[in-house]
Amino acid sequence: MPDYQQHLQLAADFLRNADHVVAFTGAGISAESGIPTFRDDDGFWQRYPPEHFATWDGLFATLTRDPDGLIDFLLAVLEPIVEAAPNPAHVALAQLERHVNVTIITQNVDALHQEAGSTVVKEIHGTLFETVTLTGSFEHLVTRQEVRKVIEELKEIRGQSFVRTRLPLVIRPLLGIGRRGPYRPNLVLFGDGLNDTTWEAALAAVRDASVMLTVGTSGEVMPAATLPREARAAGARLVTIDPEVDSGEGDICLQGRAGDVLPQLVNTAFP
Ligand code: OAD
Repeated sequence: MPDYQQHLQLAADFLRNADHVVAFTGAGISAESGIPTFRDDDGFWQRYPPEHFATWDGLFATLTRDPDGLIDFLLAVLEPIVEAAPNPAHVALAQLERHVNVTIITQNVDALHQEAGSTVVKEIHGTLFETVTLTGSFEHLVTRQEVRKVIEELKEIRGQSFVRTRLPLVIRPLLGIGRRGPYRPNLVLFGDGLNDTTWEAALAAVRDASVMLTVGTSGEVMPAATLPREARAAGARLVTIDPEVDSGEGDICLQGRAGDVLPQLVNTAFP
């Protein structure tokens, strides 16, 4: 693959000469950690129609109409995330910090970048491991242990006659009423606005970046998908890493799995 090798060298030069690298990541970077993406063949939105599962109204309507279906969806989302570990792509981005200033802007809610050791992570679609009030203020942290307990109890009540009444109690670590009123997971669903502070910080990083690595995202969701264009307008070099993308708005496309390409790229730049 002569083109691939040439592009790898060029992208490595970009990294070596960069003051600030922004990695903009989507579900594809966590695919090799066992978490399905959204729009690939086995993706969440292929199996669970977004109109029933990707909005708060849809989820509450599904709770009433089909609580066991809601449990299936919750298990499909929660189990892979809570059991996932960072893969070589997350680790390579964390290691890149030894050589250059790095900001991660992720659409993922799995906290795998932080677990791999990345220190500056902007989670523009929120995180599963935090709850917020209905106005978006921080409520409490959610531990993996608590999510595992929710998963266990969801399995116990699935298919039981009392499922509809027990479900709200089982998911109380994630959604319920606390001392400051109702709280919910800190997740951005369809139709929700982004957290302003996080989004402004992401934009500031993008405008300051010398290189943007766009990894494993279909670029279908706004406003996240505008970030590569913002970076280009501010003068950054763009590198796209995705097995399904061989050209795009980037200067360079490295077609392949993030877990293969990112370690190669970082090792080539900083042997
Ligand atoms: P998508 O499912 O839309 O896109 C996943 C991308 O990852 C595709 O381009 C795949 O080709 C690529 N991919 C798959 N395996 C990969 C691998 N091993 N290495 C690298 N890339 C791989 O997921 P996102 O773009 O993240 O938002 O989706 C964006 C948003 O849509 C999500 O944050 C979520 C969803 O609705 C909200 O819920 C608001």
